[in-house]
Formats: sequence, C-alpha cells, structure tokens
Amino acid sequence: MTFSLDQVPQEFRGRCQELQSAYEFTSDCTKGANGYLVFAKNKQLNRKVAIKFYYWGDGNHVEPANLSKLEHESVLTVDHAEAIDKDYAFFVARYCEGGDLDAWLESHNHSLNGAMQAFEQIAAGVSYLHSKNYAHRDLKPSNIFVAHSGRFVLGDFGSVVALGLDGSAKSITKHSILYRPPEDFDQNLFTRQGDVYQLGLVMYQLLGGSLPYELSAWFSAADRKKHAALAGPDADIFANSVMQKWIQRGRILDFETLPFYVPTKLKTIIRRATRVNIAERYNTVADMLGGLNNAMQRTFDWVLEDGQWIARGRKCDCRCVEVGGSVVVEKCQTSGWRRDNRFNPADLRSAAQMIDEFLS
Ligand SMILES: Nc1ncnc2c1ncn2[C@@H]1O[C@H](COP(=O)(O)OP(=O)(O)O)[C@@H](O)[C@H]1O
Ligand SMILES: [Mg+2]
Repeated sequence: MTFSLDQVPQEFRGRCQELQSAYEFTSDCTKGANGYLVFAKNKQLNRKVAIKFYYWGDGNHVEPANLSKLEHESVLTVDHAEAIDKDYAFFVARYCEGGDLDAWLESHNHSLNGAMQAFEQIAAGVSYLHSKNYAHRDLKPSNIFVAHSGRFVLGDFGSVVALGLDGSAKSITKHSILYRPPEDFDQNLFTRQGDVYQLGLVMYQLLGGSLPYELSAWFSAADRKKHAALAGPDADIFANSVMQKWIQRGRILDFETLPFYVPTKLKTIIRRATRVNIAERYNTVADMLGGLNNAMQRTFDWVLEDGQWIARGRKCDCRCVEVGGSVVVEKCQTSGWRRDNRFNPADLRSAAQMIDEFLS
C-alpha cells in the first residue's frame, strides 16, 4: 500500500511534508476520534514510529513539551513532541510491534495470572500519569499497546489532560462513549477516579468479560425500531442516549459472561472500580492495585491446556470436567487425573469455587 500526503487532513499536511525529510510514511489510521495517526520509518535510525497529531488548543490538553518528559516502563515512549500551531500538536512515539490490547485479547486464551500481570502493568502506567497530575481519560484496549519488550504500555495521549488543583479537569467529550464514566455525562468533569472506572472495564475485558463495541448491540427491540426510523446525526444521538442510560445505571458489565474460573474476589474489585457513585469507587489506582495484590496472593493460576482449564495449585492441579451432563472435580495425581467424589458441584462455576476453597 502506498501512502500519499493527499490522505493527510489539511491541517497536518504541511507538517507531514516537512517530516518527510526524516521519515518515510507507510500508512495511516483513521479509526480514532481524537486525532490523526500515521505510521512511518525513521530513515536515519531505520526504526518504525507512530506519529500522532492531536488537538491541544483548549488549554486543558497536555503540552507537547511535557509529553516527551513522560518516562515510565508502562507508558509509550515519546521521542519527540512539538506544537504545530495554537490548536494542534504532534508527537513521535516508538512503534509497538505487539499491536494493541484488542488484538491481544482476540489472539489467545490467556492464563488468569497472565491477564492480571498485564493489568498490573497497565495500572502502573495510569498511576504514574496520575502522579504527574495527568488523567488519561481514554483508557480502553485499543489505546493500550504491547511494546517491543512484551510489556503493556499506555498510548494514545490524545485525551490526556492536566488536572487542576482540585484533581479535576473539564471534560471534552470526544472520547469513546462506551468507556465514558457515568459522572462525565452530568458534570462534564473528569477526575482520577474516571481513569479508575475505565481500568475496571479493562480488567473485566482482560478476564474475558464481554463488552460489545457496536452500539446497536445495546438496543432493545423498541430501540432498534426507533433507530431504524432515524437518519444521520439523529440516529447517532439516539444510539448514544441508549448507551448513556446503560452506563448511568451501572449496567454495562455482565459478570455472567466472565469465564467460570474467575474468582469472586476479582469480580469484587471490578465492581468497586466501576461503581456509579464515585465515593464508592477506589480513591486511587494504588488502592485498586493494593486490592488486587491482596486477592492474587491467595489465588492460584488457571491455565488452558489441551482445551481444558486447569487450576495450578500449590498442593496439586485440579480441573472440572463435564461428564454425562454433570460436572465433576478431578485432581491430578501421579497416576493421572482422578475424580474426587468429595466435591459435588451443581455446575462449572460452583466447581471452580470449590477448587478455589480447596487450593487457597
Ligand atoms: N506506537 C504504536 N505502535 C503500534 N500501534 C499503534 C501505535 N500507536 C497507535 N497504534 C495503533 O493505531 C491505533 C490508533 O492509534 P491511537 O493513538 O489510539 O489514535 P486514535 O485512536 O486517535 O486513532 C491504535 O488503536 C493501535 O492499534
Ligand atoms: Mg486511540
């Protein structure tokens, strides 16, 4: 695929032209709402980069000069950042070969510990941003990348804002509605706890919970009918209003879609992070991570092996299998997998709960 400067939005074209002396553009990405992104190769260093153009003219967005000062193993490395004019700025970041978290979530079945390690890395990045007095405001899988080192890093700083002395920033409503914290709709304010809320959603997705991206997936039959009768912006406004109701009622997570082995204590953490009432949420990312550390100390890993989820306990390995319509718990002994008749679970979830109590 050849890349032409004609593809570049007018307001960034001039700067792209100048950048061509140092970079060879390969492709662009138009899926995002808060900027314009091009992939390129740094000709001198022979290194792939991502160049992101973003709006910063409202005085709330992070200044380009400060972006390149961000330095943390869980934050995308910005090699250069610069203002184009009073409205737009751009930054040049390292290319992440591993793609984004959406791709990672689709690619394979991850062990429970693997998913929670990923979460800890992501949350560490958010905690760092907060320590610098910034809120990310657009935490979601497509804005989290897998760096060369294999580490998860926060990217897409197009929504990052500096927080005022009271810890809040005026909200600019460009980012994805699905991840918008409930309070953002009424008060138009964003705080660190908005990021905590989004981290809760990301943790839920990392554990395998379903969160449909298509707004139409949230429609009732009546909504579908109403939507079909509308066109253009009215249709979008209606779709957004449906989504807003789900979010403000605190109903967007369906814990039943989480895999059977996800322990209750992890669900409790997600619930607390995503409470509609900010006062009931974790106050800081560090508090959330503390809760997670506590829970994980008494949790063993669940891994997928030959199509079977196995609990890797210190005492032994266990699994739950469906035999003739009922679920049994098996333990791995020297002779192989053996059914343990002391356990009489009604279903997979209660089998996992019994294994949890047995191994913890
Ligand atoms: N540095 C990077 N390395 C690899 N992929 C990237 C990088 N930056 C962005 N991407 C990919 O491009 C997509 C869009 O980039 P992003 O910065 O999120 O901009 P926007 O959402 O405003 O389009 C991301 O979801 C990701 O898949
Ligand atoms: Mg993005």
